[in-house]
Amino acid sequence: PRAGAAPLLAATYVLDDANGLGREFDGIGAVSGGGATSRLLVNYPEPYRSQILDYLFKPNFGASLHILKVEIGGDAQSTDGTEPSHMHYENDENYFRGYEWWLMKEAKKRNPNIKLIGLPWAFPGWIGKGENWPYDYPDITAYYIISWILGAKQYHDLDIDYVGIWNERAFSSKYIKVLRHYLDRLGLWNIGIIAADGDWNISKEMLVDPYLNDAIEVVGAHYPGTKTVQNAILTGKKLWSSEDYSTFNDDVGAGCWARILNQNYVNGNMTSTIAWNLVASYYEELPFGRCGLMTAQEPWSGHYKVESPIWITAHTTQFTQPGWSYLQVDGHLEGGGSFVALTDGLGNLTIIIETMSHNHSKCIRPPLPNFNVMPQRATFYLRGSFYMVETLQVWHSRLDFESGNSSLFQQLHPLQVWEGRFSLDLNVDEVYTLTTLKTGRKCGCPEPPPPQPFPSNYNDDFNIRNPPFSEAPNFADQTGVFEYFVNASDPGDHVFTLRQVVVQRPITWVSDADQTISVIGNFKWVNMTVTCDIYIEKPRDGGVFIAGRVDNGGIYVRHSKGVFFWVFADGTYRVTGDLAGKQILMKGLAGVRDNAWHTLTLNIQHLQLQLPRNVGKLES
Ligand code: GAL
Repeated sequence: PRAGAAPLLAATYVLDDANGLGREFDGIGAVSGGGATSRLLVNYPEPYRSQILDYLFKPNFGASLHILKVEIGGDAQSTDGTEPSHMHYENDENYFRGYEWWLMKEAKKRNPNIKLIGLPWAFPGWIGKGENWPYDYPDITAYYIISWILGAKQYHDLDIDYVGIWNERAFSSKYIKVLRHYLDRLGLWNIGIIAADGDWNISKEMLVDPYLNDAIEVVGAHYPGTKTVQNAILTGKKLWSSEDYSTFNDDVGAGCWARILNQNYVNGNMTSTIAWNLVASYYEELPFGRCGLMTAQEPWSGHYKVESPIWITAHTTQFTQPGWSYLQVDGHLEGGGSFVALTDGLGNLTIIIETMSHNHSKCIRPPLPNFNVMPQRATFYLRGSFYMVETLQVWHSRLDFESGNSSLFQQLHPLQVWEGRFSLDLNVDEVYTLTTLKTGRKCGCPEPPPPQPFPSNYNDDFNIRNPPFSEAPNFADQTGVFEYFVNASDPGDHVFTLRQVVVQRPITWVSDADQTISVIGNFKWVNMTVTCDIYIEKPRDGGVFIAGRVDNGGIYVRHSKGVFFWVFADGTYRVTGDLAGKQILMKGLAGVRDNAWHTLTLNIQHLQLQLPRNVGKLES
């Protein structure tokens, strides 16, 4: 006991591989998409863009992720925007849209062993032949998903490792079996199906349907609160937290992440945890701002921030790999907190300990039941093949909520193990990695440039012959998909354009707006001038708007307010206070028609956002 202090709670733990190992570890990952969470990343200038990618994917460098999960774009709103489908229409195919292909390639460049997962949130409308449902024609849906997998290989040399069903929506046993069948027929036996990316309920069906059970490789649940259910265990399948975290990336977010990375295995037998989202690269005012492992939301300034969850990730990822195994051990610390121990089966041992307190480790969901964590002494006995271990490298983080001066992923003096035994005094809100590996590294990289607001004077003529991406920089589509379009037949000034290409309502994941919209700029702008040359392709009820003060997007896009200036192919115009077009402020004739270019200008000055009470009358 320390002089004058109360004796520490002391407990012993035994790590032994003599009686076999625990479950195989499948890796720690993160999601890009669901939706458009990496939108702004692609526009970062070098060297910053590469630095960010290094922090995420480079082995022994930062988060060093084992898994990258991406959205299979479905042309529909999937949280912070829409991502384009590789097949907008039945006879359309293009594997160069969006940025997920690029991101997967950048990840693979840095870590050739990184595992890739594709999962749809939404589907283009033709999949459902008019119904908002992807399972009526399972052959078509399977063909669509497999096209994406084959396209990844054919056009980008990317091998997809796992594929999912429909994010957090109903699954169909029939479809899962059809998908497995087609994968096998094409020789894609190596691609595992993860199901069903929602709750654990699919495991109940797997127990009574052996064909379904055979088709599925991984039972993936979202936000499981570190717990699984008996049925899931009975399937004998791998159990994953296939989406988790989604918490603001401050130190509480880091605490959440540290706790679930360990406890998803300790409490729930889950052998992989995947964070939503990879990097917060979307306008912060969109839903779930900064809920990424790090922040990179200012391509115009180059500013980014390596937030504490990156270093919490490193505690596990830099010292384990998919294919390692957990040791069989309870994993609860007697004074609160948890530990996991993993081995490569070749003599290496990694122990990760976390002592996150309740209030400093709350995740966005589910609610966290109360628990206590206290300072404690932990004595570990290494047995079996680990008895021979003499030294352990020590990496340490301490989240400090009083001073705000957390210490993150610091290497401490190696620990001497004496006859298979060592002790450690653990404080509250700490993470330790003890490992035989000497490869850990925390880079001391250059500081990124300081933050800047979005430039107050911005324009784009879309005049770029070979754009690296299908969308123009900084435009964040919220309903519909806007793509570069070279209008070679135009004799005038409008050869280079940005075109909205989705004209059939997709099988949605949330309520997309009835009007397509892409946002750009700064949510704080009040007074502004927006000018745009526009072209309406659809006669009669076709129309176009430009807008300012748009207050929302993402899953709330349908309810966006702002000042919207519309022109229609029938020659009328309107100014409305909402995207839905219900609050009409002004209307009249503008003489605009379809299939001709016009210049629209909207100048908003000092206009009160509140609508006058007689708006209803104006309309009548
Ligand atoms: C999940 C969803 C993600 C994102 C996240 C936000 O349920 O799959 O796309 O919306 O919630 O917390």
